[in-house]
Amino acid sequence: MSELVLGLETSCDETAAAVITREGEVLSNVISSQAELHARYGGVVPEVASRRHLELVEPVVSEALSEAGVALGDVDAVGVTQGPGLVGALLVGLSYAKGLCWGSGRRLVPVDHLQGHVASLFLGPDPLEPPFLCLLASGGHTLLGLAHEHASFEVVGGTLDDAAGEAFDKGARLLGLGYPGGPALDRLAVEGDPAAYAFPIARVDGLDFSFSGVKTALLYAARELSEAELDEARADLAASYQRAIVNALLRRIEQAVEETGMKTVAVVGGVAANSALRAGLEALGARAAPLALCTDNGAMIASAARYAPDVGKADYLAVDAYPSR
Ligand code: KG4
Ligand code: ZN
Repeated sequence: MSELVLGLETSCDETAAAVITREGEVLSNVISSQAELHARYGGVVPEVASRRHLELVEPVVSEALSEAGVALGDVDAVGVTQGPGLVGALLVGLSYAKGLCWGSGRRLVPVDHLQGHVASLFLGPDPLEPPFLCLLASGGHTLLGLAHEHASFEVVGGTLDDAAGEAFDKGARLLGLGYPGGPALDRLAVEGDPAAYAFPIARVDGLDFSFSGVKTALLYAARELSEAELDEARADLAASYQRAIVNALLRRIEQAVEETGMKTVAVVGGVAANSALRAGLEALGARAAPLALCTDNGAMIASAARYAPDVGKADYLAVDAYPSR
């Protein structure tokens, strides 16, 4: 049998585990979302997330192994998210992986969450080969990177304020769409007119992003409306707001291609699941990560672990979770 890698992800509100082969075939990809648990608070509550990870980590790993039809002993290495993310949440996965590896003699491979998102592109059935230009757009990060090789990327642009996913979530909240807002806004936008409102795209130097202006513009537009008018305009607002964010991302990609001369372009992270962005990328001849691998998952962490060094038992104590890069 080919060597197998188990991936474990607990950086935010998804407890996720997956088994892949070294060649990049996904054998199982189990994701237990805590979204419903956090919905009543309108966002992720870190302490609640940690406690839930603690309950879920063992059953989710077991399910990933059994769905893949393998035992822990068949696994060669365990990749686990070390950061960035919520430290308490990360520590649950990291400690669990350490125990698992210590007890079973598997190799422990700490993985950077952002590198994990990029590595979602290296999985089958149609893996991408570096070099390429990569936009990572998630709830916590928005950055443009040059992936010269599998194990790392060079950051050439970032966000000055909110991440793109955060902008989607905050916009959705303003429109009363609940949490998590990105997918809900995407669904509602289908029914609206994206040209109904002319929301601004920030003018920022270089290859950086800014989403605070468009967010404020949505707030002002919504504030003008009575409850009944807002009900009437909600889909148009969603579609117009989504268009502004998506256009900002697409423009930056085009500019980055021009400036870097990089011919291959790919987008990863939760926002890569957005239908309008995916349509825009297709028109540009760029790729988006496979839909199932956009939002946080264990397969992308296992994928990145294939290109990262493992840690010997003597160094376990020095491997700590980190909140930001
Ligand atoms: O990558 P991810 O699962 O977690 C982080 O690493 O942050 O990304 C989650 C983000 C959330 O902000 C969520 O609203 C956004 O991705 N998202 C979307 C869509 N699906 C998820 N945003 C817009 N449209 C979507 N279809
Ligand atoms: Zn993520």
